[in-house]
Amino acid sequence: MEGSFAHALVALLMFFMFSTNTVSSTVTTSTLDSETNIEYIKTSCSATIYPRLCYHSLSIYASDIKTNPKVLASTALNITLKATKSTARMMIKMSKIHGLMPKEAAAAMADCIEVIGDSVDELQQSIEELGHVRNSNFWLTMNDIETWVSAALTDEDTCMDGFQGKAMNANVKTLIRRHIVRVVHYTSNALSLINRYASKNLASP
Ligand SMILES: *[C@@H]1O[C@H](CO)[C@@H](O)[C@H](O)[C@H]1NC(C)=O
Repeated sequence: MEGSFAHALVALLMFFMFSTNTVSSTVTTSTLDSETNIEYIKTSCSATIYPRLCYHSLSIYASDIKTNPKVLASTALNITLKATKSTARMMIKMSKIHGLMPKEAAAAMADCIEVIGDSVDELQQSIEELGHVRNSNFWLTMNDIETWVSAALTDEDTCMDGFQGKAMNANVKTLIRRHIVRVVHYTSNALSLINRYASKNLASP
């Protein structure tokens, strides 16, 4: 009777020792992992033109990105696409508000909506293509993606230039500019993360 009680006590103690150990080592490992993941994003972003925007937009996805340059680039592209689409939607809405802007500015707005639409297509194509990249087609595919993302960046710049010197409500102009500038910065960062991934020479994993 006494012996089996002692046995049970030892078993219980061992269970606790073991489980405490497991828990604490799991916590330590995952903390280290998440520090590594965050550090990876910080380092990668430091090579972009807008490192703060890069870090702030991507760090929330650190646990998905881990230290994978392809996932990093494709997450950056997704964020860019989302921002570009939302800018396009906002501009379409504004263009429908009667009397919001003078005729000349309205024409610039229409042109801008068109080129931002092109930019959305180019980004979408890049995201799709990045999903198909393999070792066997690596250079060709990465080259295509770099071309499309550069084209998107050019389209956004064109859009912004279109408003230059146009008479329009200062608040409206500032709002549109702020959105487009943000999209340009996201796109520029995505391009530099794509170049970084391309420089790894390998598609995997
Ligand atoms: C990017 O978006 C696509 C389409 O919505 C999705 O399938 C993919 O998982 C996303 N990639 C990343 C890395 O979040």
